[in-house]
Amino acid sequence: MPVPIWLDCDPGHDDVIAIFLAAQRSDLIGISVVSGNAPLAFTERNGLTACQVAGLATPVHRGAAKPLVRPAQHAEYIHGESGLDGPAIPTLTRKASEVPAVRALLDAAEKHAGLWVVAVGPLTNVALALLLEPGLAQRLAGISVMGGTWGPGNVTAAAEFNVWADPEAAQVVLEAGANVVLAGLDLTHQFVMDRGRIAQIRALGTQTALFSADLLDYFAAAYARSYGGPAQGPLHDPCSVLAVTDPHLFASEPRHVAVECAGEFTRGMTVVDRRTGPRVLPPNATVLTNIDDEAAFQVLMDALGASL
Ligand code: BDR
Ligand code: CA
Repeated sequence: MPVPIWLDCDPGHDDVIAIFLAAQRSDLIGISVVSGNAPLAFTERNGLTACQVAGLATPVHRGAAKPLVRPAQHAEYIHGESGLDGPAIPTLTRKASEVPAVRALLDAAEKHAGLWVVAVGPLTNVALALLLEPGLAQRLAGISVMGGTWGPGNVTAAAEFNVWADPEAAQVVLEAGANVVLAGLDLTHQFVMDRGRIAQIRALGTQTALFSADLLDYFAAAYARSYGGPAQGPLHDPCSVLAVTDPHLFASEPRHVAVECAGEFTRGMTVVDRRTGPRVLPPNATVLTNIDDEAAFQVLMDALGASL
């Protein structure tokens, strides 16, 4: 039986590939979008675009247009002004649901036993749902989050984008008592799409594979421009889908993770307690440490090859 998943995202290049993957590997119940990589109007359009390219009828629900307490900030240096620069975007034939994201997520959790939330954007929608209905933390099978880092950040020296964009929301999620699985940059930077892999994806020839290859061409060039090094990009968000659908691909450690919400230089930093001994704080998350990169790539290839 495929695992039921609710996908909360801010598409975003890697978010779109996470949608394609979740549609093949899980029972994808619903998608909610949030302000993040781009303003909400764009992440909504991009989520709908992903569904259209993959031929999915999955409902897309509009979520928060800004973080809990801070102004919205975006990642145009990686995803472009539209959040999905690069591929030709088809004319949309479908619309977002009129049911707001938080309402729809709470209803889905009531209806689907064992629901996983996979959250791959700023955590505003998920935090709002947990604040509105604290029982949600226990009702869900878990929350698989792409966010954080224990090494260098990608927005600042200390912080990863999703946590940095809404640190208060990330704190709510980590303190809710849910089964949180965390894919930080230390993990996602092990799953990189270089020119060779992008060519293999393109050669699959399906609609989703061609769209993914166009996305990854832009994404790889944006990474090289922003961070230096070769034209290649890490597939962050698909890791959080795979953590639920294919958990055998990962090694992990239970850790306490706190979010820095106040620091002048460290806002959005995830402070992972990696100590041992009696002073270590009790774990509140399963932190993913390693991915079987080759096997994960094969799962992605199979999924894109089997899609529209
Ligand atoms: C995260 O930020 C976004 O740019 C990506 O979609 C991913 O979710 C990586 O820091
Ligand atoms: Ca994302």
